Amino acid sequence: MSLIHRLYPLLRPLLFQLDAETAHEWTVKLLKMGHALGMLEGADSDAGPARPPIKVLGLEFPNVVGLAAGMDKSAAAVDAWGALGFGFVEVGTLTPRPQPGNPTPRLFRLIEKEAIINRMGFNNPGIQAAVARLERRQGTGIVGVNIGKNFDTPNENAVDDYVTCLRAAYPVADYIAVNISSPNTKGLRDLQAEEPIRRLVGTLKEEQQRLAARHGDKKPLLVKIAPDLDSTQIDSLARVFTEQQLDGVIATNTTISREAVAGHRLADETGGLSGAPLTTRSTEVISALRAALPASMPIIGVGGILTADHAQAKLDAGAALVQVYTGLVYRGPALVRDIAKLAVPGKN
Ligand SMILES: Cc1cc2nc3c(=O)[nH]c(=O)nc-3n(C[C@H](O)[C@H](O)[C@H](O)COP(=O)(O)O)c2cc1C
Repeated sequence: MSLIHRLYPLLRPLLFQLDAETAHEWTVKLLKMGHALGMLEGADSDAGPARPPIKVLGLEFPNVVGLAAGMDKSAAAVDAWGALGFGFVEVGTLTPRPQPGNPTPRLFRLIEKEAIINRMGFNNPGIQAAVARLERRQGTGIVGVNIGKNFDTPNENAVDDYVTCLRAAYPVADYIAVNISSPNTKGLRDLQAEEPIRRLVGTLKEEQQRLAARHGDKKPLLVKIAPDLDSTQIDSLARVFTEQQLDGVIATNTTISREAVAGHRLADETGGLSGAPLTTRSTEVISALRAALPASMPIIGVGGILTADHAQAKLDAGAALVQVYTGLVYRGPALVRDIAKLAVPGKN
């Protein structure tokens, strides 16, 4: 077993003594340091012998498990996450201009529920700063860049923010994820309604074509959706995605539902809920999407994966790849190792 897998059970209680945001900052710092000192060596080979890559989105993934957006918003430690065993890393959400996000406290652990509530509000250094970091990185692992709009950009002008970010990220990203599903930016999720999403995806697909011609390389464009959509809304999104020949869908973001944590002392904190309470719902959304989308359009499944079995359920529901965030906080890097061992799903 690699050093990091042995250390995590000792580290976790120390990190859980700190408030959630400080623990998060320390985790990223320690990870970077550990990587620089070679302490992550062997973490990825713990997943077993190297296997043939998984072809999805025209890319070759070393395994099915990626780091979900929000953990490394500023692309601070991309290569270190790769060394930890992730097959791909999604940085962001990044906005055109830097912004501080919401006032603290804005991140809460519901430990008994293996859940997190966050209302970070896209705190990020701005797309240019993250792109500059990605340009300087040494590694070659797959990186998705997740893009959003600034909190003070009205929804009528949201398309401009996404186009700005798409252009900036295009040369350094392996894929681009369009985030219209965070509950912490006022009105953002309204972009999931049929007309706004048609306009947004239509404009971004046109821009993608122009950029592909200019750079001689087509980078896939995905949209990340919320779990709080009914079947009519899922079908209408699927119709637009199919019409516009979107390259893929990421399902799901955090939920605004509190049903699964009712009565918990932190349940009434505003924000998006992630982790165990989301496991079943996000898998249901993946199944519904899979039924409504053409088989050629891959889904990245995310939401409440705390075990390799949870990841397998998402693959069985039709996801081609998965991502984790909250599971990493509660279960540590062994979760990544265990998911990376899973057999590759069918084609896509
Ligand atoms: C603290 C925190 C911050 C997040 N920030 C973002 C973000 O900036 N952009 C985004 O698309 N998703 C963000 N997410 C959502 C995750 O990427 C993921 O979709 C969600 O948490 C469900 O997965 P999980 O249960 O494995 O955490 C965030 C989640 C958490 C817990």
